[in-house]
Amino acid sequence: MYPNIRMRRLRNGKIGNLIRETSLGVDDLIYPMFVDETAESIVEVPSMEGVLRLPLSEVVSEARNVADLGISSLMLFGIPSQKDEKGSSAYGDNDIVQQATRAIKEELGDDMVVITDVCMCEYTSHGHCGIIDNETHDVINDETLPILGKIAASHARAGADMVAPSGMMDGMVGAIRQSLDQENFSDVPIMSYAAKYCSAFYGPFRDAADSCYCFGDRSTYQMDPANSDEALREVELDIMEGGDIVMVKPALPYLDIIYRIKQEFGMPTAAYSVSGEYSMLKAAAQQGWLDEKKVMYESLMSIKRAGADMIITYFAKEMAQLLNE
Ligand code: PBG
Repeated sequence: MYPNIRMRRLRNGKIGNLIRETSLGVDDLIYPMFVDETAESIVEVPSMEGVLRLPLSEVVSEARNVADLGISSLMLFGIPSQKDEKGSSAYGDNDIVQQATRAIKEELGDDMVVITDVCMCEYTSHGHCGIIDNETHDVINDETLPILGKIAASHARAGADMVAPSGMMDGMVGAIRQSLDQENFSDVPIMSYAAKYCSAFYGPFRDAADSCYCFGDRSTYQMDPANSDEALREVELDIMEGGDIVMVKPALPYLDIIYRIKQEFGMPTAAYSVSGEYSMLKAAAQQGWLDEKKVMYESLMSIKRAGADMIITYFAKEMAQLLNE
């Protein structure tokens, strides 16, 4: 009695390559980059080994390193030297992200797609993603929208190839689309953080970007981890408002959401593998408990397999190195 169907027949070497269903390539990777107006030299983020906060003067050479690995896109975050209640340092033409964007685009041109994070939390003194109501301490949605529009337009003027609103305000994609169109940036696409969960996996990022909030939490605007149908509604709205790419964030704990969204809408879908996903693998690898390269590859492959077309990941450089070997 032998099984006549044997799955193991195809599980060998070169044949295995032929039947591999999912691919992971350097083209799928987006590198997150932090530019810090207060830094005088490169500083490694303590909770994220290998992740750097760069002074403006180092941004171009780091972008060049990224491009040399074959990575064609980066996502830019800014750490301003001044913060106030209204996030005023987020939209000036000479603020940090705008300067960094101009510098990278001048030097690398079409070799690098610069995507900018559009949010207020790195720029507000209270660390929330919008204008705060002093009585309720909640973010006022509709007063925040025009500011997001201003931020996005300032990024586009600086040469950003795409803007990525991450604040989870209702109507943010529509407001940004309108603002970009008014300034003749109708060709600048919007990558919307459409389904962004209220996640504790963002912990290390708040170190990296100095964006800890000083009261409350983000549960009045970010999604409840228990919900999945709601993510489809969020995505649908962003598509209706003119979103070009939709994003799920975090990635690994939300693979089912990535899967459902890709199945339902067939839109270009991005996944943000967030700081906590990175730090937990790094920390376990440092202890010798996990094989770093293998878990990195397996995690990113699983995100592709779930349906993501592209992944924003702090592993981008290491993964590219491995894929290039
Ligand atoms: C800001 C923003 C956050 C991240 C990306 N953009 C943090 C937050 O919402 O608290 C998190 C990224 C990460 O954890 O890697 N709006």
